Amino acid sequence: MDLETFSPGSGLLEPRAALRSDAPAVDLNGTWRFRLSPTANVPDDFAQPAFDDADWDELPVPSHWNLHGHGAPAYTNVVFPIPVDPPRVPDENPTGDYRRVFDLPEGWTGGRLRFEGADSFARVWLNGHELGFWTGSRLPAEFDAGPYLRPGRNVLAVRVHQWSAATYLEDQDMWWLPGIFRDVTLTRSAADVFVRTSYADGRGTLSFEGSGTLSVPELGVADLAPGAEVTLEAEPWTAETPRLYDAVLTLPDETVRLRVGFRTISIVDGVLLANGRPLLFKGVNRHEFHPESGRTLTYETMREDVLLMKRHNVNAVRTSHYPPHPGFLDLCDELGLWVIDECDLETHGFGQVGWRANPTDDPRYADALLDRMRRMVERDKNHPSVIMWSLGNEAGVGRNLAVMSDWTRERDPSRPIHYEGDWSCAHTDVYSRMYASHAEVELIGRREETPLDDPELDARRRGMPFMQCEYAHAMGNGPGGLAEYQELFEKYPRLAGGFIWEWIDHGLAHPEYEYAYGGDYGEPVHDSNFVIDGLVFPDRTPSPGLIDLKKVFEPVRFEFGDGVVRVVNGYGFADLSHLEFLATVEADGETVAEHRLTVPAEGGEVKLPAGSGAGEVWLTVRAVLAADQPWAEAGHEVAWGQALLSPLVGEAVEGAPATWTAGLVRDGGEITVGDSAFDLETGRLIRLFGVEVEGPRLGLWRAPTDNDTYGGLAGKWRGLGLHRLTHRVDAVETGDGLTVRTRVAPAATDLGLRATYTWTASDGGLELRVDVEPEGDWADPIPRLGLDMTLPAGAVEHVIWFGRGPGEAYPDTGMSARVGRWRASLAEFQTPYVFPQENGHRADVRWADLGAFRVRGFPVFGLTARPWSAFDLDRARHRPDLVPGGRVHVGLDLAQQGIGTATCGPGALPAYDLRAGRTTFRLRFEPS
Ligand code: GAL
Repeated sequence: MDLETFSPGSGLLEPRAALRSDAPAVDLNGTWRFRLSPTANVPDDFAQPAFDDADWDELPVPSHWNLHGHGAPAYTNVVFPIPVDPPRVPDENPTGDYRRVFDLPEGWTGGRLRFEGADSFARVWLNGHELGFWTGSRLPAEFDAGPYLRPGRNVLAVRVHQWSAATYLEDQDMWWLPGIFRDVTLTRSAADVFVRTSYADGRGTLSFEGSGTLSVPELGVADLAPGAEVTLEAEPWTAETPRLYDAVLTLPDETVRLRVGFRTISIVDGVLLANGRPLLFKGVNRHEFHPESGRTLTYETMREDVLLMKRHNVNAVRTSHYPPHPGFLDLCDELGLWVIDECDLETHGFGQVGWRANPTDDPRYADALLDRMRRMVERDKNHPSVIMWSLGNEAGVGRNLAVMSDWTRERDPSRPIHYEGDWSCAHTDVYSRMYASHAEVELIGRREETPLDDPELDARRRGMPFMQCEYAHAMGNGPGGLAEYQELFEKYPRLAGGFIWEWIDHGLAHPEYEYAYGGDYGEPVHDSNFVIDGLVFPDRTPSPGLIDLKKVFEPVRFEFGDGVVRVVNGYGFADLSHLEFLATVEADGETVAEHRLTVPAEGGEVKLPAGSGAGEVWLTVRAVLAADQPWAEAGHEVAWGQALLSPLVGEAVEGAPATWTAGLVRDGGEITVGDSAFDLETGRLIRLFGVEVEGPRLGLWRAPTDNDTYGGLAGKWRGLGLHRLTHRVDAVETGDGLTVRTRVAPAATDLGLRATYTWTASDGGLELRVDVEPEGDWADPIPRLGLDMTLPAGAVEHVIWFGRGPGEAYPDTGMSARVGRWRASLAEFQTPYVFPQENGHRADVRWADLGAFRVRGFPVFGLTARPWSAFDLDRARHRPDLVPGGRVHVGLDLAQQGIGTATCGPGALPAYDLRAGRTTFRLRFEPS
């Protein structure tokens, strides 16, 4: 077989819609016989019914064979794992042979074999007759099985090659996972239909292409003929109000059940509209992924994705970078998500060779590219949720884009066309980019972007809506800068929002590493942890990034004034009548009053209950679902806002230090005060309220985040030696307290920080004031500025704190962290990033009780507490590398460097850069 053919397939039936038909079908999923060969040169005698496969293994279908012990997975982002030599492929070409014997039901005649997805080049035989081959891993393929079916026993054989000429079209950033990974069925359904709807001003139109008759009983539509159009009163479909109508297509041999939604997508004056109103994507990019089964997903997993998205205020999904399992789109229709359906096309690896021989511009690949587009559009054309077609991702530029786009435009003029890879937008209806900085997005929002060379194309593009098909790269800790992007998206009508990269960490379950990423299977070429860049961890636990995103995407805003709150409806299509508004007053984190607010459906100003109490008093208003929704239960929180009703309790840092009233005793090599003690020589605290401690002393290090690393900051920090500071004690003075003068500096440089620690004691507590003064030219931002201390393991088991929580927060993240009183075990205080890095920092802490002691800020500080050090965290490569040691490591921070999203995109905005400067901070330690 010629694997190096440019042809996309042979023997295939015309593509048609994925439909639910009552025609008989045989589910061919299940246990198949399987054999893996290292090359493609294996006899194909296995396809004969009489072949003896008794010594073959068994493999579930659907699945990927390399997740079932046959070979190993491999991960690359941009680069191809094979030489870039289209259409040629290596001799080493893992080839999986599949056999399945099935019994045909009595009286069965005719039918089609339907494969929803096989990665990547597949040939199929039925009872020894070759039906054809296909490519296009994430696209359906159908063959006429009728002539070769036999009563009773039938033998289906499939051969799947990992590499072929089509591999050059499938260079998406993901694991290479071959095999029949989606469903296989024998179906007697042959139906196809293209339901066309629109919506404007309370009225929908309905017509269809195909044969048979269409009825929508709920709307009184009976036996509509193909081509006939009706206009009727109907409710619109939107992602916020996913109103579907059951429809029935009646054909002579089968009945098809459809769900119809009425909606119109249009572009007016460069603004993207749905049903005439601006459409703002609050989106995510979704790959299909499960840590055990790769891109084979159950219905439950797909549903979990949609539910999680809805519950986190996500309203849109880009199916990066291939059409998903058709069941996912049914869920999007039903539960409400706007979808950009993306073709199975990416040729990014050609970028490595100057885009030479890029299939996108090679006419020999034109049929294959068009075939992919057709199969996607035909399969998914009836979904109201699908509102844009995307030609693919990162496939460079070239003439085949025009072929794909022209056909699509003609076939389906109702949906705009998207493609990011060609910034001239010659073949698209929207201007789409990835990872553009805030500043550039703002320019585009104002229609002041740098012009294209071609004035005609420029004028065309300037009239287009703009979206970021990818932004805010959610790799590791972060992304930072979400709120600032959202502000821009909401400010400029041209900006249609965007899609976070990406939904899920593709960490594969691994016996040793817990979750594996690139290189963990010994791949010679790989892209390491770049595949761990999702908003949810591999097991779909939301990461702090998703929790922040929920806050940033909130469809309700609260603007607090004097005794009032203005509730702003941020939905595009719905009002607020499905929400209930609850106000809680808390004094020092304890609830003192709860009220229900009456908010008009369209939003507006509402009087707030008076709130008072001793201490720091906060009012929190929450919008929760008033009744169960299909995607969340009544009481689910959609949005919240907080207002401070009394001033912050803590004193400012400039306040006078407590006077040294307690007795100070020299005792051997120690200076003691009560049951605390300092080393006489170093002035360092060695015992705090009876507990042996090290520190606190100045620390600048944090285990670099992925953004620190890939953005280049971490390299600079290591270059400077900020992870190996030396501490020189210049003076230990006793008098009105204990003053320890030090110089903190890395080796091999003249940069340093003068740090003066002044301890005083009063009322059973110890107060520390630290004055910091930099020396030398600190050109770059520093990781953090804080104090490090350690205690014996077991001294800290829980942390209770009053500050922002419950989750982590950094200068440009943690929008979801609200002021309150929180409690977490030491384990819960950590965020288990799959690739270990700085995490768990709690912000604006007024006071914290660590069990061994309490610590208070003036007025606030940042807190980390870990059963390992920042250096252990820095060294670790996988979660299991982190093993609690003999000490608890506590960080008491004045400040942290922002997080940004420099793994892809801009680093922290300048306002979040932490620069070494002259500064003072104060803390007070008290017995717990
Ligand atoms: C983009 C690409 C995505 C992903 C991301 C990095 O350029 O479209 O597929 O590779 O970068 O995680």
